[in-house]
Amino acid sequence: MKLCIALDLPSKEENLQLAKEICGISDDIWLKVGFRSYIRDGKEFVKELQNLGFKIFLDLKLYDIPNTMADASEEIAKMGVDMFNIHASAGRVAMKTIMERLAKYKKRPLVLAVTALTSFDEKTFEEIYEAPIAQKASEFAKMSYEAGLDGVVCSAYESLDIKEITNNNFITLTPGIRPFGEDSGDQQRVADIDFAKNAKVDFIVVGRPIYKAESPKEVVEKIIQKLKEAK
Ligand code: C5P
Repeated sequence: MKLCIALDLPSKEENLQLAKEICGISDDIWLKVGFRSYIRDGKEFVKELQNLGFKIFLDLKLYDIPNTMADASEEIAKMGVDMFNIHASAGRVAMKTIMERLAKYKKRPLVLAVTALTSFDEKTFEEIYEAPIAQKASEFAKMSYEAGLDGVVCSAYESLDIKEITNNNFITLTPGIRPFGEDSGDQQRVADIDFAKNAKVDFIVVGRPIYKAESPKEVVEKIIQKLKEAK
């Protein structure tokens, strides 16, 4: 299981400071660049993080018509990031179009589909999707697997079922991780490291429990230590 840290701080300087602070703890830490950072700091910021030696997950959750999504996916592949994501509800055609277009890249990024945002509870999810979270997350995962994607973004609670209906190598990446039971904030379906490990999660995403801590470096070291024990 790998750690992916969400760089959601209010300024580029703070994000870079965090990245530099944790640089060297482990060569297997991924950084997640999401809406906030990417809209503000763009490609140049991503390049700076890559130069520090981190693997990058570009969390832009693409959702549009298939051709537009595939065009954007190609632009992302050209940036040399290691992973990005789309919304599964964009559908099978969009997924297939993206994977066909990316096939020509020698080292293409991993492509994940978001199943259900971890901030949804059952009621708010059903208002939109008219199905329970677990059922819809499994359906989305199956569709993503069949379309040739590398994995899905889901909560730790869905990971095991998803592995069962797809394949053990089909990646599950789970936000909403509170490594040692920290405050859940706006996340509804949170889990700790032990739970994620038992659910065969491949990547845990941790944001606030790290960057809001008094010593982010200490929290990262603790998580990396725990991940080693959990192996
Ligand atoms: O601070 P916290 O650990 O809750 O951060 C979770 C990160 O994962 C945020 O950047 C959020 O945008 C992202 N994310 C999520 N749920 C998803 C996909 C991404 O919380 N389904």
